[in-house]
Amino acid sequence: ISTKAVRLVEVGPRDGLQNEPNTAALTTKVKAEFIRRLANSGLRWIEAGSFVSPKWVPQMADTEAVLETLAKDPEIAKMSSLRLPVLVPNMTGLETALSSGLSTVLKEVAVFTAASDTFNKKNTNCTVEESLKRLAEVCKTATDKGLMVRGYVSTVVGCPYEGQIAPEKVRDVTLELLRLGCYEVSLGDTIGVGTAGNLDRVDPSKLAVHFHDTYGQALANILSGIRTIDSSVAGLGGCPYAPGASGNVATEDVVYMLHGLQYFTGVDLAKLVAAGEFITAKLGQTNRSRTANALLTK
Ligand code: HMG
Ligand code: MG
Repeated sequence: ISTKAVRLVEVGPRDGLQNEPNTAALTTKVKAEFIRRLANSGLRWIEAGSFVSPKWVPQMADTEAVLETLAKDPEIAKMSSLRLPVLVPNMTGLETALSSGLSTVLKEVAVFTAASDTFNKKNTNCTVEESLKRLAEVCKTATDKGLMVRGYVSTVVGCPYEGQIAPEKVRDVTLELLRLGCYEVSLGDTIGVGTAGNLDRVDPSKLAVHFHDTYGQALANILSGIRTIDSSVAGLGGCPYAPGASGNVATEDVVYMLHGLQYFTGVDLAKLVAAGEFITAKLGQTNRSRTANALLTK
């Protein structure tokens, strides 16, 4: 039996749904059921939503209600190692997290910034430097209150507005997020332009990879040696403020590849495929996971 292990961070309920045009399908009940199915497939890190401005991302407006539904679920309560992080862009978001009374399910938050000022302004209405100042207080308060904080850097290879991004900029922002108290930084190839050649400078410790699959490079890029992988079931995903960003790499495809390479993921692929089918049917979308489609037509 292999002891090679990876950590998967499922971002489908957040990244996958935040850009979803069929908002009528995005009921609190559907979202909670989606997360429950993902958890039952064995995934242990599932981004559940975000406490961002509902004017900016209306699809995530009911995140608190989704977590409340899950907190009452006896099966979820039994999963002591389950993490359901939410994105917080500022103190308002963190205060929602802290005042929610959801500490049984909400043990972790994620903060996000970028390596490009133009993208960051479009996404959070401030420059990268301003966002890091804002996030300093968020990280300090969150860690003081016992929450784990994960960091994201977007546009680590390319920006939809500025083009190619200097690796030094990515390094500096990543180091700053670690200094502020993030236990890990997830490197977002927001528009999926990177190739394996872009990644060999990155020190894998304390890093995760978050690849959108626009150019079909995500699986190859994941093999660059990082052991924490963000992915989205059915290949859902995209950032509303990143034109040209396609879905995240599909979790089913990542799991199929990792199992083939003898990695332990803890995930039951059939249950994961079923969770992807559940949400795509609700959304009226086609499933973008190649593995899911292959297994379903077998
Ligand atoms: P702003 O307009 O500058 O904020 O937006 P503000 O502080 O001036 O407040 C304006 C209004 O928003 C006020 O309400 C606030 O109360 C409210 P009003 O008085 O007008 O009624 N507000 C909030 N409401 C709820 N929760 C909050 C919150 N903060 C303010 N936390 C802000 C700044 C950051 C809030 C906004 O730009 C925002 O919410 N942006 C989020 C954008 C987003 O969620 N993007 C997608 C996630 S990032 C991503 O997808 C990339 C990633 O996947 C990695 C990758 O792929 O690269 C992570
Ligand atoms: Mg993303």
